[in-house]
Amino acid sequence: MRMGWVIATVIAACLIAPAPSGAAPPPGPCAGQSAKHGRAAANLERRARILKARGRPTAARALRRRARWEARLARYYEEQARARGLPRGAAVTLSTLLRSQVLRRSFLTGFEQLTPENEMKMERLQPARGVFRFAEADRMVRFARRYCKRVRGHALVYGRQLPHWATDGSLTAGQLGFEMEWHVQRVVERYAGRVADWDVVNEAIDADGDYTQNVWYLALGKAYIERAFRTAHDADPTARLYYNDSGIELPDHPHTLAVRKMVADLRRRGVPIEGVGIQNHVSTSHHASEAQMARTIRGFTDLGVKVAITEMDVRLDTPGTPARKLDSQRLVYRSAARACRKNPSCTSFSTWGVGDGVSWLGPAAAGLLFDRGYRRKPAYRAVSRSLGSPETP
Ligand code: XIL
Repeated sequence: MRMGWVIATVIAACLIAPAPSGAAPPPGPCAGQSAKHGRAAANLERRARILKARGRPTAARALRRRARWEARLARYYEEQARARGLPRGAAVTLSTLLRSQVLRRSFLTGFEQLTPENEMKMERLQPARGVFRFAEADRMVRFARRYCKRVRGHALVYGRQLPHWATDGSLTAGQLGFEMEWHVQRVVERYAGRVADWDVVNEAIDADGDYTQNVWYLALGKAYIERAFRTAHDADPTARLYYNDSGIELPDHPHTLAVRKMVADLRRRGVPIEGVGIQNHVSTSHHASEAQMARTIRGFTDLGVKVAITEMDVRLDTPGTPARKLDSQRLVYRSAARACRKNPSCTSFSTWGVGDGVSWLGPAAAGLLFDRGYRRKPAYRAVSRSLGSPETP
């Protein structure tokens, strides 16, 4: 009888416990990653021993350094598979990725998802009307796939970072609508099956809760939003399509309420929107508490959509000693990560950059999880622990 109770309680606990929906690492190339890097480490070690025996200690040391890195990657993938935490993501630019080995390494062992910071925006992908330039975005997607990182596509329809031809007033409303759909279709089709999540529409509502007066709205009214989602869905029915916005982390803010209303309306009309991205650009003095963030996330997930934290940074703007400030930052990050982890419909947690030295806010803001020298800040561990992610040393 008692045994029956225990079993029933365990089963009930398993059913109730939130199973983070985005928790499983992507299948396929991930499965063999740990073994692959482990083999590479062993090979490099063996070659290093041979070189040393042949009297070439400098070359041997260089190989040994590479072997240590491969071994670290092997450990990271092993821990990732075991931990199955919620994916951590970061925005990166192709140029820093190519230029900085330390950024690459911090990213590879610190994050499971990559957002191209600018390379998938319209001004970059279609600089001239009808002329698509995919090379940079392609390289980023290839890099991500080589290391088994998910890609968050950002952003298909946005009022900023537009090519000149779309904003110079030379196109009619009809032409703009056509160009918008053509752009969405080309881009989503190209990355179908490789980009799992898309920010389809970015920042369409402003802080007062009104529609942002961008070129798309001015030409097409709010219908552009629906058209963008439907076109993206037709281009890749398996992609998860998000509306992404900043300033929507507080549950009762007019901006948040307006986004909620818009999403509810889209859902009611069967528009294929699957989630809301909360950018969460905040500071140590202005941010949501854990309870507020939990309420904001629930406000969206109650509508039947998923949520992702997509661009978090926490500017240091409160007085105090450096250690005090870093601790305040840790607590702000921890609140958001915990609120996300506790809601089974929160799918990933991303920061807008890896290290403070390459943040869009400039180094003084010091808003990211790694400092200018790519050392892990206290917030890094807090986020990793809250999400259940590996902290490979
Ligand atoms: C920013 C990039 O980080 C900068 O490099 C660029 O100069 C301007 O755009 N919200 C968004 C992002 O959705 O696309 C923005 O990215 C930051 C704010």
